[in-house]
Amino acid sequence: MIDTKLLLNRTFLRHAEYHALIDSTQTRARKIAEAGEWPLPALIVADSQTAGRGRGSNRWWTGAGSVAFSLLIDPADFGFPRQPIPRLSLAVGVAIIDTVAPRLSEHPLGLHWPNDVYVGSGKLAGILVEVLPGGRHIVGVGLNSNNSLETAPADLQATVATMRDLTGRHHDHTELLLDLMDNLHAAIVQLSEPMESLGERFGLLCRQQGEILTVYQGDQKVTGRCAGVAVDGALLLDTPEGRREIYSGTLRPQPTW
Ligand code: BTN
Repeated sequence: MIDTKLLLNRTFLRHAEYHALIDSTQTRARKIAEAGEWPLPALIVADSQTAGRGRGSNRWWTGAGSVAFSLLIDPADFGFPRQPIPRLSLAVGVAIIDTVAPRLSEHPLGLHWPNDVYVGSGKLAGILVEVLPGGRHIVGVGLNSNNSLETAPADLQATVATMRDLTGRHHDHTELLLDLMDNLHAAIVQLSEPMESLGERFGLLCRQQGEILTVYQGDQKVTGRCAGVAVDGALLLDTPEGRREIYSGTLRPQPTW
């Protein structure tokens, strides 16, 4: 259960709704955007999803006890044109790290370009940013908070990390979301400022430095050694042909249907 009234009173949100069970908070956010029935920013948060979506054709495992939400925002409310906001996914990753770091003390948190939060070698959070016709954005976040690897599908056990497993304790979701909404608000505002310092943190938090990565972009792929992430959000790959700056793509091939 989430205290949506508290979230509305204490954060930048203008609408917040909680669902014990939903198909996908992304789908619900899209419907809210189409209907125009609520003021923005709007938060849709759920305990459980029957059809949680990841990037590309991926599904998202919403383990019992995890937190899944979508934040619907209008770029114009933050001084952006109604077009894709560059670097938003990475900024959301930084906001997540700033929120969970005090709760995970010694555990090493970092960003995996293009938009995952890792702790050690396990994925702690996934981020899915969708831009709607007209420019509104849906920021979807799945955070492995109070779920446990014990209940994860076998193929995820080696790649996922959860806050509960790491700390051995329960994390209050309302408290978590209060901090996360503040940090998200701060990150979005920073992105809109010309002299911001947020971009520097993308490189500092990059945990793929030195790894050999292959980035897939449609039917093209680029392989190289990761030299970090630039302030403008580009993944830096050192390839035999020289350094490449990559602005979009996935680290796994995506089906083309
Ligand atoms: C990824 O790692 O591929 C992104 C995962 C995003 C999952 C979140 S959970 C809340 C929101 N609703 C969805 O259906 N997906 C996003």
